[in-house]
Amino acid sequence: MQILVTGGAGYIGSHTLISLHEAGYDFVVYDNLCNSSKESLKRVEKIINKSISFEQGDIRDKKSLQNLFKKYKIDSVIHFAGLKAVGESVEKPIEYYDNNINGTLTLLEVMKEYKCKKIVFSSSATVYGDPHTTPIKEDFPTFATNPYGRTKLFIEEILKDLYISDNEYKITILRYFNPVGAHESGTIGEDPNGIPNNLMPFISQTAVGKREYLNIFGGDYETADGTGVRDYIHVVDLAFGHVKALDYLNIQIKNKKPLIVNLGTGKGNSVLDVVKAFENASNKKVPYRIVERRAGDIAKCYADPSYAKEILNWEAKKTIKEMCEDSWNWQNNNPNGYIQGEKK
Ligand code: NAD
Ligand code: WQD
Repeated sequence: MQILVTGGAGYIGSHTLISLHEAGYDFVVYDNLCNSSKESLKRVEKIINKSISFEQGDIRDKKSLQNLFKKYKIDSVIHFAGLKAVGESVEKPIEYYDNNINGTLTLLEVMKEYKCKKIVFSSSATVYGDPHTTPIKEDFPTFATNPYGRTKLFIEEILKDLYISDNEYKITILRYFNPVGAHESGTIGEDPNGIPNNLMPFISQTAVGKREYLNIFGGDYETADGTGVRDYIHVVDLAFGHVKALDYLNIQIKNKKPLIVNLGTGKGNSVLDVVKAFENASNKKVPYRIVERRAGDIAKCYADPSYAKEILNWEAKKTIKEMCEDSWNWQNNNPNGYIQGEKK
């Protein structure tokens, strides 16, 4: 039996493959490589010393998915595939709704056709919108402020409806906070296209000399130092959360409603905390300027991760120091990401 990992060549997916392998799960990766390359899979193969079953295809392509389910004995799905850039989603809502929602619906149709009823879905802390308080618990109200966030919310609702229609479905919705860091080997990591939107890749590209300075978006938030606070979580911890989610689905008795779980550390770090931790980890200066707030940003967002501990027996272990060390190790070894030579 195999686990289908959609979007498995991407940042979180590639790290999860290693965790799955270490836990003894067999898997097949399905990815259209729109935001990744085969190189990440080659590097995972080196780490796990095993070749990976990979099929290139789009989750909106029903025929291709049917062929995949015909070819492999797929028992459950970890569904990472999706577009994830908040700003881009505002400019291209149709593409985001089509890719993320139509893609998920097509995947669910084919899963149904092949009687595959176990799925772990990548949701996001973005579904909490601007929370009234922190730390954030799973039962907080949900609200989306952009098309990307709405795709996550809609998919969560679709999955809940699916369970109502057939309670043999076993569904886990994981709400990730801010994934950062890289595998300890420094051979796989986050490889954004163009100018990074997210803080950690921007800091690491500044430290390596690809960017002149970091713009810190807002120094007047109601936080200890005025900069935004987030729950940064090491991608290796996050990856292991998927193994625990899958274990849970496998032992879970029938008729349990979809599980919704925060994956975060429970600790909030400000932008300046991360800059300092990164400077210490890399021994490089990260020049910065404090500029206007970024539209749509909130002051504070961090998880109450106690439900993940209780239900999945999972908790994040790695510190912000390790997150920065591993991000730096990846960036320093791969200044141009997976593509060697001068690019980007
Ligand atoms: P990523 O872009 O690195 O990985 C996503 C992968 O999906 C890529 O390899 C891409 O090529 C593939 N993909 C996209 N659309 C596809 C399609 N139509 N068909 C087949 N493959 C497709 O992103 P990531 O950071 O690894 O995120 C994985 C998932 O986690 C996404 O669903 C994302 O929304 C969610 N998430 C990410 C973060 C984050 O900050 N990285 C936070 C919360 C949730
Ligand atoms: C973190 C902090 C910024 C860049 C986003 C998505 C969310 C989820 C994770 C997918 C904030 C500040 C950033 C920079 C800065 N992704 N910052 N200068 O916005 O918390 O979450 O990624 O689901 O949905 O919205 O993450 O890394 O962009 O920002 O000062 O150049 O760093 O203002 O306080 P965010 P981020």
